[in-house]
Parts: sequence; structure tokens; C-alpha cells
Amino acid sequence: MLDKIASLLEEVKNLHAQTAADAEALRIKYLSKKGEISVLFDEFKQVSPELKREVGKKLNELKVFATERINNLKESFAEQQNEGSATDLSMPGTTYVCGGRHPLSVVKNDIIEIFGRLGFTVAEGPEVEDDWHVFTALNFPLEHPARDMQDTFFINTNPDILLRTHTSSVQVRVMEKQQPPIRAIFPGRVFRNEAISARAHCIFHQIEGLYVAKNVSFADLKQTLIYFAKEMFGPDTQIRLRPSYFPFTEPSAEMDVSCSLCGGKGCGVCKGTGWLEILGCGMVDPAVLEANGIDSKEYSGFAFGMGVERIAMLRYQVKDIRLFFENDMRFLSQFKSAY
Ligand code: DAH
Repeated sequence: MLDKIASLLEEVKNLHAQTAADAEALRIKYLSKKGEISVLFDEFKQVSPELKREVGKKLNELKVFATERINNLKESFAEQQNEGSATDLSMPGTTYVCGGRHPLSVVKNDIIEIFGRLGFTVAEGPEVEDDWHVFTALNFPLEHPARDMQDTFFINTNPDILLRTHTSSVQVRVMEKQQPPIRAIFPGRVFRNEAISARAHCIFHQIEGLYVAKNVSFADLKQTLIYFAKEMFGPDTQIRLRPSYFPFTEPSAEMDVSCSLCGGKGCGVCKGTGWLEILGCGMVDPAVLEANGIDSKEYSGFAFGMGVERIAMLRYQVKDIRLFFENDMRFLSQFKSAY
């Protein structure tokens, strides 16, 4: 037995392998269940008691040595394999498919950035609102048609809880918490019970703006909007304010920008008028300031609200608003480099 162990030890010391498969074959030959060393362990049971100690020690040493030797051979092949693949310059590279921002996010971020330069911060409010924040605090008379079931989605049958129809509700959320000066914009989703078409959707996005401080005038509003229009649509852009009506502003106006496609001459996009309507605005009605705990003798303010889809449609020549919500990659991937 001792001779057998000594000769196996010599054999193992001189083992060589050309490939990983050779090394594995050696493991099977010596160390697997039926391998030569394992067989010796079976025979060890018959060794006479006085020799057991010495033979057992040698046998164990043989097994430890063989295991280490064969493992080393195997590892050397594993390392070689890794080195090979790391330097294989003919391997095709991994393709990374880059995503991009949604065009509505691109436009929203641009608007936030432009107003940011004028000192406007950003605030948000809830999409599920109550009547007070969407209508009552904004000076909507009780019988005003905008409260009609036609326009508003109500939650269950409770006429007090509804999906906001405009982001003007965030004006109220901010004014009830903060005294002037307030200078912020409020981007967000709004909901209206409207038939979906190329021009209208029941879910869309608005950005509301509010500036309340001492001595805020209509001239401040106009100057702010001119700055925005030129930054957004280009330095040659002209604006036009038309008198309008909103319950929460007095006076109220709608703003048109000169059509950037035809430069104001008239084309299909501006329907021959040379102008494109892009937002509503006005001086905050004193009744709205008072309803929100702000002294209207001390403070005045202006507000404006615009649709993000409308501006994105004008900027990117998108003819159908539904494209923004369908997540068709053929549409979205055109805006990958837009930001
Ligand atoms: N909330 C209005 C709408 O959804 C837009 C608007 C008009 C907002 C005039 C304003 C404003 O702040 O002063 O149609």
C-alpha cells in the first residue's frame, strides 16, 4: 500500500495537461469516485491496525497534493481563456440603444428653464382636487359652464372631488400657504371630458404661471411674455394680446405669437392669419387674492396658463395630438436628440 501511494505521488508530481479537457480527464482518473486515489481509500479499510496511522497520513497527503495539483492545472486554463477573450479584437461590440426624452418633457423643461432665468421657481399640486381649488377660490360663479359635467371628470358621484381641469388650481394651493412675493410656475397634467380628436385630448399638460408682489402691473406681464415668446420661438417673434375673459383674471387676455413658419405672412399652420394662439393670461382678480388670504390693497399680480401639447405641436409641426400619447417608437425616436 505504501509503495502504491509513493508511486502515485510521483505520477501526480509529473502530471501535465495540454487543454482544459486534459486537466478534467486527470481529475476523473485520480480523484473521481472510482479514481485511483479514491480506490486506495476503499482499500485502506483492510490495512492492519498497526499500519493504519502511517498509511492514513500518507494517503491523506497524497489526496491533498493531487487535488491541489489538478486544480492548479485547471485554473491555468481558465485564466488563459479569459485572457484570450479580453484581447479578441474581432469580437463584435455590444450595441447600446439610447433612449430619449419624450417631446412633451423636452418642451416642458425648456419652458421651466426660460422662466427660471426670470426667477420663477417650480411647484406642483394634486391631480385629484376639490371644487374649491379648481373653481370656487378662482372666482368661478356657481353656475359657470366650466363646472358642467360636460367638461369635468368627477370622482364617483361626489361633486366636490374631481380631476383638475386646469393647473390654475395650483395657484390656490400656493397662495393659501405662502404670502407674497410669489413667483412660480406650475406644470402638470389636466383632465377634461372631451371627445378625443386630432386637436383635443381628455388628458393633456399645462403650465401655469403666477407672480404676486407689490406694484405688479400689466406692463410686467407683457414684458415677461415677450421674453418667453422670443426665447421659445426665436428672436424675431412678435406677440399680440387680445382681450378675453377668465373668471380669475381682470383684465384678461389671450396671447398670439407670430407664426414662425411663414414669419407672419399667412400659411396653412396659422390658417392664413399669420398668428398662433398660445396662452391665456391676465391680472389676478382681487377677489382671487382675497379668497386666498392675500391683501389685494397691498399686493397685485399676474397669471398665465399655456398648453404644453399646443406648444410642442407648433414647435415640431405635429398635426395630431394623439401621437403624444400612443408611445409609438417611430414617432418618439424622432425626438432623441431634441434636448
Ligand atoms: N386656466 C386657463 C385654461 O385652462 C388658462 C389660463 C388663462 C390660466 C388665464 C391663467 C390665466 O392663469 O390668467 O384655459
